[in-house]
Amino acid sequence: MQISGEKLGPVESHHLLRNLVMPRPIALVSTVNQEGRVNVAPFSFYGVVSVLPPLLGIAVGRRQGKEKDTLLNIRQTGELVINLVTESMAQKINIAAMDFPPEESEVEPAGFSVRSAVSVRPPLIADSPAQMECIVKEILKFGQDQGAHDYVIAEAVVFHINDNLWKNGLPDCLGMNVLGRLGDDYYHGIREPFEMKRLKYTEWRGNK
Ligand SMILES: Cc1cc2nc3c(=O)[nH]c(=O)nc-3n(C[C@H](O)[C@H](O)[C@H](O)COP(=O)(O)O)c2cc1C
Repeated sequence: MQISGEKLGPVESHHLLRNLVMPRPIALVSTVNQEGRVNVAPFSFYGVVSVLPPLLGIAVGRRQGKEKDTLLNIRQTGELVINLVTESMAQKINIAAMDFPPEESEVEPAGFSVRSAVSVRPPLIADSPAQMECIVKEILKFGQDQGAHDYVIAEAVVFHINDNLWKNGLPDCLGMNVLGRLGDDYYHGIREPFEMKRLKYTEWRGNK
């Protein structure tokens, strides 16, 4: 199969990328509007943009051509919290991903617990093992109409990691039990992680 990118429609392109760029981490994003109403939604078109400054990027699509509440809130306040998602939070994020009207918060229906952030208005999702308080740096717009995406680049200004998941001076990457996203309607947990140390070219060459 060979597919030409320029011939794709918005849905085809979305499904193709969803089923090829994987596994993906999931950012559970909390934002507030100007009145302080909390919005929570999951995003898996998400990744690290830069290490110092620590920048994270999230691609937010449109709903029936309209900007999603997360993006509208981010435009209004310039703030967001990225909460990690564990396997045990799967049902909750699926509820939060529904098309709630803007005046209804997802927090209670999804059953999330929240607590205050230290530097931004959106709350931390207490169910998550770690949270990153972020300030928006840039919003880049790509595409038109149904296919349009806004790429939100935000700087993580405060990191929170549950004390019991802080191990040898780092977040305990296995202990966090994160949930990932595959294609179609598939997700994955961390079942059989394996360790593989990085190689040094000179040593690898020397051993040959
Ligand atoms: C696991 C998962 C990942 C998702 N990833 C994205 C994404 O990367 N970009 C996006 O626009 N929507 C994504 N969605 C859909 C949004 O979560 C959904 O449109 C949500 O209703 C947006 O909420 P809002 O209008 O409150 O911002 C994802 C949904 C799920 C369940």
